[in-house]
Amino acid sequence: MKMFDVYPLHDVAIVRAEGSWVYDDRGQKYLDMYGGHAVISIGHTHPAWVDAIKGQIDRIGFYSNSVVMPLQAEAARALGRVSGREDYQLFMCNSGAEANENALKLASFHTGRNLVVAFDKSFHGRTSLAVAATDNPAIVAPVNRTDNVIFAPLNDTAQAEMIFRESGQRIAAVIIEPIQGVGGIRMADDDFLRTLRRLCTDYGALLISDEVQCGCGRSGRYFALDHAGIEADIYSMAKGIGNGFPVGAIAISPSIAPRSGMLGTTFGGNPLACAAMLAVCQTIENEALLANATRIGDYLTSRLRELPGVGQVRGRGLMIGIELPFDSAALRKKLLFEEKIFVGASGKTIVRLLPALGITRQHADLFLSSFEKLLGEFA
Ligand SMILES: Cc1ncc(COP(=O)(O)O)c(C=O)c1O
Repeated sequence: MKMFDVYPLHDVAIVRAEGSWVYDDRGQKYLDMYGGHAVISIGHTHPAWVDAIKGQIDRIGFYSNSVVMPLQAEAARALGRVSGREDYQLFMCNSGAEANENALKLASFHTGRNLVVAFDKSFHGRTSLAVAATDNPAIVAPVNRTDNVIFAPLNDTAQAEMIFRESGQRIAAVIIEPIQGVGGIRMADDDFLRTLRRLCTDYGALLISDEVQCGCGRSGRYFALDHAGIEADIYSMAKGIGNGFPVGAIAISPSIAPRSGMLGTTFGGNPLACAAMLAVCQTIENEALLANATRIGDYLTSRLRELPGVGQVRGRGLMIGIELPFDSAALRKKLLFEEKIFVGASGKTIVRLLPALGITRQHADLFLSSFEKLLGEFA
């Protein structure tokens, strides 16, 4: 059987990785400014993460959620501490789509309502409800389209208020990425986020912050929504919280009381996932990675803004979108094959940087000098 190419982007066989570096099958080293698509938070094969998973698999790799597993409570406490949401409940699953699926379903159960507000260019995953709240015709199948989702323009306060005036009593949830990833590093304004918080509170709807890509410290705060000084009712998470071990989760506000049966999973919260997540939380604290994401992110952003031939540079911390006045594909290819640097993309013209949170100034300078050199060639 031949493997289906999910993202047939790069003809490079990656077999090993360490920190911010990945190695191909011929031993060639690449700087990873893409973080395996925002997944690598504490760094590839971080010793704390490796030891936690190895140690755990020697003790127990799996048991069903029908029993008490102390490691789950420990992992939840660690996530509560690092995120500042110690009073929230944690439900663990296996991916970002599954986290959003459960967040939306829980909002509907909690409110007894069936409408969801999502935003233009949003991406929430590929399971049925998550994809229904996604504004991307290339990935939403006809069967997933539903009248239960209203798409609103991002940062349009008047439209959001109108939607709530007309349908507020039927709205279960607003789901938003504080910084859109797939949509092109588009930022929700802090004022707009605060308006959504107020509307949700006034009308009894839940605010779901999709932090699958922008969360886990990537923006320099644990949750990207923290920059707006408000709290979500539900935070959905994945990617960085496992540093590559498949983990998804939702953090649920104490004002919501899911009854038994509303949320469930076989593999979610398994011991290996808990061990990986616990190691990530501890390392974020031990290595002050939120401060580093802010420091290096600010440095990269300000240096990029000085480069001639670059359009807007958007984002926060180590989630950066560089808008180019041309299709970025050829430049990204040269970055990879000539400069040995991985970056991501959003659409045709945006280069996306999502490196590990422990990236150093030297890594940043390496990227900047290669990027500047190639920009000169494409000018
Ligand atoms: C904001 C956001 N939500 C949800 C998802 C879906 O996550 P997963 O691929 O783990 O299902 C992604 C994945 O890129 C994402 O960026």
